Parts: sequence; structure tokens; C-alpha cells
Amino acid sequence: HEVILADSTSVNLFKLAMAALQYQAGRNRIITDDLNFPSDVYILQRVAQLAGDTHLLSLISSPDGIHGPVEQLRDQLDEQTALLTLSHTVFKSGYTYDMAYLTAEAHQRGALVLWDLSHSVGALPVDLNAAHVDLAVGCSYKYLNGGPGAPAFLYIREDLQEMLENPISGWMGQHKMFNFDLQYQPEAGLRKFLSGTPPVLSMSLIEPGLDLLMEAGMQAVRHKSLLQTNYLIGLWQEWLEPLGYTLNSPRQPEQRGSHVSLGHVEGLRIDKALIDAYQVVPDFRAPDNIRLGFAPLYTTFEEIYRAALALKEIVELGVYLNYSDQPPEVT
Ligand SMILES: Cc1ncc(COP(=O)(O)O)c(C=O)c1O
Repeated sequence: HEVILADSTSVNLFKLAMAALQYQAGRNRIITDDLNFPSDVYILQRVAQLAGDTHLLSLISSPDGIHGPVEQLRDQLDEQTALLTLSHTVFKSGYTYDMAYLTAEAHQRGALVLWDLSHSVGALPVDLNAAHVDLAVGCSYKYLNGGPGAPAFLYIREDLQEMLENPISGWMGQHKMFNFDLQYQPEAGLRKFLSGTPPVLSMSLIEPGLDLLMEAGMQAVRHKSLLQTNYLIGLWQEWLEPLGYTLNSPRQPEQRGSHVSLGHVEGLRIDKALIDAYQVVPDFRAPDNIRLGFAPLYTTFEEIYRAALALKEIVELGVYLNYSDQPPEVT
């Protein structure tokens, strides 16, 4: 009764951020950081505009592009802050915030908190109730196994549900929708945060994906994920650091999600060689991040070993020189 599948992460973020600002009338500030997913920032920029002239978005900078600016975020929270919104695990470095700590700090100053869980849900245990989180969104197509185009979800803490209004007041959230009344009257509870018709086929794939995770158990998934990210970092230190690779993810295990980014001045060409010559599929995230994601349910240690060996060979043998440094459309 606190989580509902709907729309995309972007649309859900828009709905919850708008609802939060409306509820927090009199406060005019949204705070986020520059590690957040750019699409989230685009949406927040627009939300701030739509909320009125006096609203502003503060983008707090990470000290090193890897770690979250925790102290700065805490110090920026003030009585004008309506909303603090962050990616729980950030998309480039995989830095993972202490959700309970920042949520409590925001609450002390009367701000609501909205977490984007896209890179943490299904990768590590996330206890929204224990952290007293107000709002959250996330996708189901990464660690939740939903498959491409699977719908996203949103979370609203139970006691906030009556107070918040959906800015996209569609028929799926209408009380007795098949009466087709012309006057919008929101359904009770979380259902009013539905807007339009859901992608039914994609939705039907979510449950089997979740069943796999529940059978494995999130503690076991996290345990394996940390062993795997530690393993790659160990191989990086031994083989890759001497070849110019940098670790662009936190060293502290509790600050990591389930992906590790390695940097290299030839990152893009290395990334292309990995895919083409070694059938290892990372992402490239500018300026130099080769992002390796570990899905503990099915990623094996041998695959990690092979990926690290490939990264070593690509530089040692100059395999990357066979590839252009022009970015493709999709990285
Ligand atoms: C952290 C994060 N937030 C938001 C999005 C946007 O999701 P969607 O395209 O489903 O709106 C993504 C997409 O990858 C993401 O990684």
C-alpha cells in the first residue's frame, strides 16, 4: 500500500516533486547534487519553474565527482528547503548515500526527502520505513529484472498519502473511473498517483523478476555484490592501476552500490574494444568512466576475472588503437 508501479522513473519523479512542492507551500528551495542522474536534474529544473518564480534548485557539488557531498548537503538544508532529492546510489561512481542519516537531517529542518532508487533497488537492502523516507521512485529494469521498458515505481509514506496530490490527474487515479464523471475526484490512498494506462505486458514480467530476488534474499544478494565489487577492485589494484586505470568508485564497501567505474584517458576506445573484441558489455559514461555492473543473481566471478583480464590486455597489447575515439549515439 506504499508502493505502486506506474509510468517511468522520470514521470514519477515529476509527479512526486510537484506534489511535494505544493504540500510545502511557503518553502521555495529544492536541493540536489551534481552526481544525480541528469534527467532527474532536468525534471527538477522544470518543476522549480512550474512551481513559481521564487522557486530555485540548488545543485550541490561533489568534492571529487565520486563521493556524495554529505556535509555540504546537510549544511545547506534550511527553513526554505521544501525538498531534498538525491539518487540513493549514483549512476556514475556508484556512491551510495546513508539514506537514514540524510533523511533524518532533512526532517529536522522540515524538508521532505525524495530518493531515486534506480541503481540501488534490487542491488542492496533498502528499508524505506526504517529510514522514515517520505518519497521514492525507481525503475524496475535494472536490478529488479523487469526487462527493457518495464514500468517504474513510486513510493509515498502512508501518512503522507492523503496530503499529496497527483499533478497528472488521469483517469486511472479517478474514484470509480468507469463512471467517467467529468469532475476529477481522486481515488483514496496511493491509487490516485496513477495517471494513464499501464504497459500491461511489461508489468506482468515484474513479479517473476522480484520472486527471484526474494528467493535469494537481499542480504545474500548484497553479500555477493560486495564480494564481487571487492574482487574487481583487487584486480584493478594488481593489474589495471599500473596501466593508467583509475578507480572512480568509492573504496569503502558500505558506500558502494553494485557497479564499479574505472577511468582511463582512453576510456571510450577501451570500452569499444571490450564490447567488440571481448564480448564484455560495460557502459561508457563521459568523460572517462567504464562502468561495470554486477547483477549478483547471475554475474559470476569468472566473468569478472575475464573482464579485468580483457581490460589489461586491451591496454597492454594496444587493442584500443583499432577503435575510433568518436562517441557513438549510445554509450
Ligand atoms: C538514476 C536514474 N534515474 C532516472 C532514470 C530515468 O528513467 P526513465 O527513463 O525510466 O524515466 C534513470 C535511467 O537510467 C536512472 O538511471
